Amino acid sequence: MPRAAFVSIGTAVPERVVTNADLVARMDTSDEWIQQRTGVQERHWVVEGEGVADLAERAARRALEKAGWQPSDVEAIVFATIQSDHVFPGDGCYLQGRLGLPGIPAIDIRNACSGFLYGLSVASAWIQTGQYRRVLLVGAEVQSTGLDVSTRGRDIAVIFGDGAGAACLEATDDPGRGVLNVQLHADGRFTRELSGDAPGAVYHPRVSVKQIEDGSIYPHMEGQKVFKHAIVRMPEVVREALAKAGLQTGDIKLLVPHQANLRIAEAVQRSLELRDDQVFNNIQKYGNTTAASIPLCLEEGLTARGVRRGDLVALCSFGAGFTWASALIRW
Ligand code: ACO
Repeated sequence: MPRAAFVSIGTAVPERVVTNADLVARMDTSDEWIQQRTGVQERHWVVEGEGVADLAERAARRALEKAGWQPSDVEAIVFATIQSDHVFPGDGCYLQGRLGLPGIPAIDIRNACSGFLYGLSVASAWIQTGQYRRVLLVGAEVQSTGLDVSTRGRDIAVIFGDGAGAACLEATDDPGRGVLNVQLHADGRFTRELSGDAPGAVYHPRVSVKQIEDGSIYPHMEGQKVFKHAIVRMPEVVREALAKAGLQTGDIKLLVPHQANLRIAEAVQRSLELRDDQVFNNIQKYGNTTAASIPLCLEEGLTARGVRRGDLVALCSFGAGFTWASALIRW
């Protein structure tokens, strides 16, 4: 059976940089609090009129160029986002239209911070079964337009950023290359702990003035609960993947954890007893970009950690649902 191999990764973030000092001007917070609790120094936020599909298209075109592919080489699109530009259709179709690929399938995945890995599992399975040989996998997110940037929303607003990452995936018969496995989990007992309540189909109308005023339109996060689950689930799911592949933590050349929060990533590293040179983080520059965080971090991590063909790369995520996931890849 062929495996899915990463041919290239392209990324994009909005030009507008928002520093911690910029946020201090808008809410009761401090650079020291933000850096100490989250590690974030700055993030990129869209400007009016710029959306998820814009970032996704830029990331996708970069990935295609790096792979040496024409858009017409793509046979299917897997698009991970929880922040679609419009209520429907999903952004996968917007991207497909912009790339000029009428007829090919475009599927949307809504698993928040685990979206890229849930998407990788779909793309990888399509490639393994021979349904498609070349798949474009995208993680893209615009969080900033949905944040409460007043003091009321400060625990969440300081964490998130906007961005996109796209990967060209191709079937390979090389036994020393490709996605070895993808592990997926969810626990719906924790839907409320990290969630966005409104607009929602259970409400008539889907959003009311009251919900806008009382802040129900903004994300809800029980930060300490998220923290406690994330630092257990991410190491656990990496160990699960390693055990299935008959590998050890020492075999990992590069681990890219979802960039939820630098303290979470550091706790994951400690739990797995990995050296600093085996892990890469860049949340300091981008904040938490949800489904885009893994490809944004992976692209820089491959260069920073000198990953070569055949090296073992591990990815792991934790996010709303709760959902968590991992992937092991021979690069
Ligand atoms: N600036 C200044 N003070 C703040 C801010 C802020 N931006 N946000 C909250 N505070 C205050 C709180 O109001 C509280 O004040 P009080 O003591 O007077 O009540 C105080 O700081 C401590 O608040 P806690 O919520 O107890 O702070 P905690 O140490 O738990 O840190 C944080 C909050 C950073 C959210 C933490 O819980 C955390 O890291 N959780 C993980 C959540 C996360 O990373 N989510 C990422 C998105 S989800 C994902 O990707 C999986």
